[in-house]
Amino acid sequence: MINPFSRFLLVLVVALFLIYPQAMAMLGTRYHISISNDIRNDTVPLSVRCKSKTEDLGMRTLFPGGVYFFSTKIDFFRTRLYFCFNVWGQKSRYIEAFKATRDEKRCLYKSYCFWSAREDGFYFSRDNSTWVNEYPW
Ligand SMILES: *[C@@H]1O[C@H](CO)[C@@H](O)[C@H](O)[C@H]1NC(C)=O
Ligand SMILES: *[C@@H]1O[C@H](CO)[C@@H](O)[C@H](O)[C@H]1NC(C)=O
Repeated sequence: MINPFSRFLLVLVVALFLIYPQAMAMLGTRYHISISNDIRNDTVPLSVRCKSKTEDLGMRTLFPGGVYFFSTKIDFFRTRLYFCFNVWGQKSRYIEAFKATRDEKRCLYKSYCFWSAREDGFYFSRDNSTWVNEYPW
């Protein structure tokens, strides 16, 4: 026999699935985040270091064509945030590479958040073909 509290939780979860099918789909989705170095300059590489509040994904040096890649799922409260610190020569830029509240819908299309580092900034794309400069250097 199920205790009343478990029964309450079960009803709650079923209700959430019925009311927010898309929200529930986003919770189960694994999002892939890629940052590619599309700066056509092989004398100065791009260094990228991504972190969340609890996890350090490490620093990597990307030559042109190199890709920094990670993936994550979103939590129920949508607090997941990964930020990256990027250095290219004298320039540096902090970007929010994955932010659940901003990206859960826009990256759902291919479950990818694409970032492209270019001479004039960090471009975002949800489909790997249409790009917007969201973080100029
Ligand atoms: C690459 O970057 C360095 C340092 O900013 C610069 O001196 C050089 O001219 C650049 N090369 C090209 C091909 O843009
Ligand atoms: C994104 O596009 C680039 C360049 O066309 C390609 O090399 C890469 O494999 C694509 N990534 C995905 C995940 O489709």
